[in-house]
Amino acid sequence: MEHIKIFKGDIIFTERPEVFTTYKDGFVVVKNGTILAVYKDIPESYKGLPVENHRDKLIIPGLVDLHVHGPQFDQVGLGMDKELIDWLNIYTFQLESKFKDVEYAKEVYTRFVEALVKGGTTRVCIYATIHKQSTELLYDLLIHKGIGAYVGKVNMDQNGGINLQEDTLESIENTEALIKKYKNHSMVKPIITPRFAPNCTTALLKALGDLAAKYNIPVQSHLSENKKEVEWVKELFSDCSSYGDVYNKYGLFGQKPTLMAHGIYLVEEEIEMLRNQEVTIVHCPDSNMNLASGIMPTRRWLNEGINIGLGSDVGGGHLLSMTQTMVRAIQNSKVLQSITGEKSLSTSEAFYMATKGGGSFFGKVGSFEKGYVFDALIIDDEKWTKERLTIQERLNRFIYTGDDRNIISRYCNGFYIK
Ligand code: GUN
Ligand code: FE
Repeated sequence: MEHIKIFKGDIIFTERPEVFTTYKDGFVVVKNGTILAVYKDIPESYKGLPVENHRDKLIIPGLVDLHVHGPQFDQVGLGMDKELIDWLNIYTFQLESKFKDVEYAKEVYTRFVEALVKGGTTRVCIYATIHKQSTELLYDLLIHKGIGAYVGKVNMDQNGGINLQEDTLESIENTEALIKKYKNHSMVKPIITPRFAPNCTTALLKALGDLAAKYNIPVQSHLSENKKEVEWVKELFSDCSSYGDVYNKYGLFGQKPTLMAHGIYLVEEEIEMLRNQEVTIVHCPDSNMNLASGIMPTRRWLNEGINIGLGSDVGGGHLLSMTQTMVRAIQNSKVLQSITGEKSLSTSEAFYMATKGGGSFFGKVGSFEKGYVFDALIIDDEKWTKERLTIQERLNRFIYTGDDRNIISRYCNGFYIK
């Protein structure tokens, strides 16, 4: 039987980056998890159906985090005086090696998933670790929670130190086993995850590209985050014409839907490949500042026609909050504006990146237009509404100063998340 749900409240979303669409006391009509329409006034034909009335509350799309490291939730705020390579070697790889212990992983991943959902993230692309069993556990925790996710067992068969390095064959076999186990799950799915070029031999990269093609699986990795990293990639892969070319050579750069985190120091060839091969760049502003990586020239990449989403990149980033990630993306762009004159990001552009822009990686996700799945947050900002702000002003204030205490309900794919 058809299952129709009607949600009433102050609705706001971005169909396009430039503008917010708002409905004061509007209605979202959802059938079997998919949006039929948004209305200012409910049509006669729906009258009599029960309405979930969120009077004076904001109804916004669920937030999308396109880049986060689950294990590093246990590491936030540590090593923030280091740059990328030292931070990885001294802190991150030591920490991630502990995820060989499934009990340890269970404790951290349980807290991670709770905090993620509490903060309003309803879709997420996650790096686990190299360990098969604890990665399975992360899949199962997310499935149980009911949010949408891509989860990658991390692949690294070189430069990980003695505690965090796989045998090439074992890395490939474990990756394929997880793909087979989870590829048909509707909400939590596998993604091919070479950590970054320096951690992978060419044999491993080739095998991962083949797996992505064989099983039709998306890909995620890191690209041009730090100047020393870029130099290191040049030395390691001297036959490749750019960092992006390393991935491209092995079918890991847009041959399947692909996310590349950071993308600060892109060269012309990479920009062209990103645009033509529809690779999404994940902007991780907190991480870029914490690790002194640099400031991504967001406006320039947008003008070049590159699709951009947002990522918390915990633990390079110190917060899972996607609203704070939006704020930092805007602040970063304003620093650049003051130096280069490039126009900074508007609030609607940042919001679009964290909803419809990033959501496109999951299908029709991140908007309240017809045909989109209903991922939503109900925001209680009552203590502010007395000032008679517009819906857009209320959302702006929530983005800048709100937190999980303002989020009173969460929905993913039409389902209420407990
Ligand atoms: N490059 C390779 N691994 C990582 C990681 O864990 N975090 C960040 N920020 N960059 C990386
Ligand atoms: Fe990262």
